[in-house]
Amino acid sequence: MADKKKKRSLVKRGAIFLGVGFLAVGTVGFGSVYFLSQSKLGEKFERKVAGIEIPEGDEDAVDRGKYLANNVMGCSSSDCHRPDLGGGAVIDAQPMGRVYAPNLTGGEGSVTKEYGPEDWARILRHGLKKDGTRALIMPSEDYVNFSDGDIGAVIAYVKSMPDVDRESIGHSLGPVTRLLISSGELQFAYDKIDHDAKRPEAEPGPTREWGEVLIGTCTGCHGKTLSGGKIPGGDPKWPPARNLTPDESGIKSWTFEDFQKAIKTGTRPDGTTLDPVMPYKAYAGMKPDDIKALWAYLQTVPAKPAGGR
Ligand code: HEC
Repeated sequence: MADKKKKRSLVKRGAIFLGVGFLAVGTVGFGSVYFLSQSKLGEKFERKVAGIEIPEGDEDAVDRGKYLANNVMGCSSSDCHRPDLGGGAVIDAQPMGRVYAPNLTGGEGSVTKEYGPEDWARILRHGLKKDGTRALIMPSEDYVNFSDGDIGAVIAYVKSMPDVDRESIGHSLGPVTRLLISSGELQFAYDKIDHDAKRPEAEPGPTREWGEVLIGTCTGCHGKTLSGGKIPGGDPKWPPARNLTPDESGIKSWTFEDFQKAIKTGTRPDGTTLDPVMPYKAYAGMKPDDIKALWAYLQTVPAKPAGGR
């Protein structure tokens, strides 16, 4: 009897010992993930940039900027900076935590109020904030092929928007996002951009060349090779981005009409509807020539099985 009791208490002590051990390892492990991600987030980079001319008040340019911001680049998405550009949470759920797209207007809580032309160029072309730290999730790499004229137009549009008073509360990252940052799986745009690359000289039109500029806005989700897969840093509930290459598992059998319909209405040829993570509501307003350009470009990419990103 006494022996049994002794045994039981030994087992109990062992369990407590193990429990405390795991807790300690877990705490140390998470502590290092926390510190590593925190130091990456705080790391500063210097980059001399040429400012972009901002055609403030030029109606045609502001219209062009409005079109790009709302229907092509996703700036005003209701999951990103919001249609009023006053900002909001991109993701706000554990275990990802909160990733926040800040207020871009001139109102209270703005992060861009003091931005000059160089600061705008630094964030949009290179993914660096005014303080030299790297922006998280902000897909600057998607925009690298757009001309100074188009980027300037977008900034002119942003600056033409009415002030919104909304605090930019910033990120409050959960364990999964921190783990992805410290392991390098979730990269900053700054680290993905080839900062010295030459921009293609393509004029807007229904051409493959212009499609190569526009496709940058798709690769953040569909991947560099456009074969789709899990979207890095995304909400675990999101479906994987689909394969846009001419493979059996992609859109090999699609016609241009199928593509246009999917882009503008979210309806696939088989009648099923796409998840709204695919921003078809924004693309509903995309110009026919821009959709043709994307299609022309997609006809020329190598076929790849789904999920290779
Ligand atoms: C914010 C992420 C995101 C962006 C940006 C994005 N997509 Fe998607 N896209 C998705 C996701 C996720 C799906 C799959 C949705 C589903 O399965 O319900 C998808 C599906 C599609 C489909 C349907 C393919 C099929 O086989 O059903 C097409 C076509 C498409 N996207 C084209 C584009 C193009 C072209 C662009 C750029 C102009 C683009 N997407 C930008 C996330 C995105």
